[in-house]
Amino acid sequence: MINYRHALRASFFDVTATADTPQEIAEKVRYLEDGLLFIGEGVVRALLPWEEGRLHLRHSDEWIDLRGKLIVPGFVDTHLHYPQTEMIGAYGEQLLEWLTTYTFPVESQYSNSGHAAQMSAFFLNQLLSNGTTTALVFGTVHPESVDALFAAAAEQNMRLIAGKVMMDRNAPDYLTETAEQSYQQTRELIQRWHHHDRLGYAITPRFAPTSSPDLLEAVQRLREEFPDTWLHTHLSENPQEIEWVKTLWPEHETYLDVYDHYGLTGKRSVFAHAIHLQEAEWDCLHRSDSAVAFCPTSNLFLGSGLFRLQTCWQKKVKMGIGTDVGAGTTFNMLRTLGEAYKIGQLQSYRLCASEAFYHATLGGARALCLNQHIGNFNVGKEADFVVLDVAVTPLQKLRASRCHDIYEQLFMLMTLGDDRNIAQTWINGECAWRRDGLEEAA
Ligand code: GUN
Ligand code: ZN
Repeated sequence: MINYRHALRASFFDVTATADTPQEIAEKVRYLEDGLLFIGEGVVRALLPWEEGRLHLRHSDEWIDLRGKLIVPGFVDTHLHYPQTEMIGAYGEQLLEWLTTYTFPVESQYSNSGHAAQMSAFFLNQLLSNGTTTALVFGTVHPESVDALFAAAAEQNMRLIAGKVMMDRNAPDYLTETAEQSYQQTRELIQRWHHHDRLGYAITPRFAPTSSPDLLEAVQRLREEFPDTWLHTHLSENPQEIEWVKTLWPEHETYLDVYDHYGLTGKRSVFAHAIHLQEAEWDCLHRSDSAVAFCPTSNLFLGSGLFRLQTCWQKKVKMGIGTDVGAGTTFNMLRTLGEAYKIGQLQSYRLCASEAFYHATLGGARALCLNQHIGNFNVGKEADFVVLDVAVTPLQKLRASRCHDIYEQLFMLMTLGDDRNIAQTWINGECAWRRDGLEEAA
């Protein structure tokens, strides 16, 4: 007997196991046009074809009717900045000027707990209304910023990883700290939040240019003291940034070598961007089992460059998709996948829909070392998922009427879709967000 709290009838799409090549993804796709998902105590109890699943219902009418909708695992956003929500779409600059002109002044506001709480609530609502159920998030240098975010995420019972920024040089005085202060504050936050409910802590040095050797030593000490925390930073995003790293750290061969020297590569280390990597850096990422976050809209918006997805596969480096709000221009993973496809096109790489949805779900979960917990509908996985309306606008409806299979539908979603296609978002086995006006029969 299946012990369940909810049973949902809909179409389902997921990838049942992690993959080391795009071909493997195709072999591991699961699509049930008419399926029944049983969930209980926050986890998946079973996903069965309707005809088989209905035999397990306690009463023949005890199911939630979502026929016509497509349910996929919740989206995993492997890199974004919650304090930058309020400055999304800032005009005209590339990375380094963008940071000094727009980013640092906005981030200064997060010493104010009230402001941080207000923006945390707004930010989480953006995640949920876009179908994102897990994210790896930058706060600001202020501990108050992450206290507010974690408190809000705990209320939603979300699986969220975040950390306070660590920064002790090359930033305005109002945002810098000493290496020792940074160590102490991070340590306290880890003790308060890491493994609190579904939350995790990421030690978050902003990037090499705003870190002194003392700061990276402090990061290294924290990693040794708390080996199951995450490490989250930026890497090789912009050519001027890379030149700057060379002048600041002349004794290191490559940008990644700066982090590697302090033991900051490894399992649960996530490097955002990783666009202009040398061969040796790819090899180091692979050898150390580190992950990278591909941030398509941000890389285009700041003119940073084209992420090399094919090389990433060839080098067997774990990868997830990041929206990188606020350099990224949307919270929406469908739109982000659409831009990833175009970045592929500019390099003659075909990003098919099943690969794209894999990266946004199980692949992202694997990049965060969370694939035992989330990313698909295997029995025992945490029940975080999105209910999609495949077509809501007149154009989408027209185009959907010409689609022949699920792959065309998914590709249409990543080309034309946005937040209007997100009907419901479920967290830990309960509906946490729903678009108004949705009719649902229990
Ligand atoms: N590199 C250092 N800080 C940042 C940031 O806030 N956004 C992006 N995109 N890159 C960075
Ligand atoms: Zn970033």
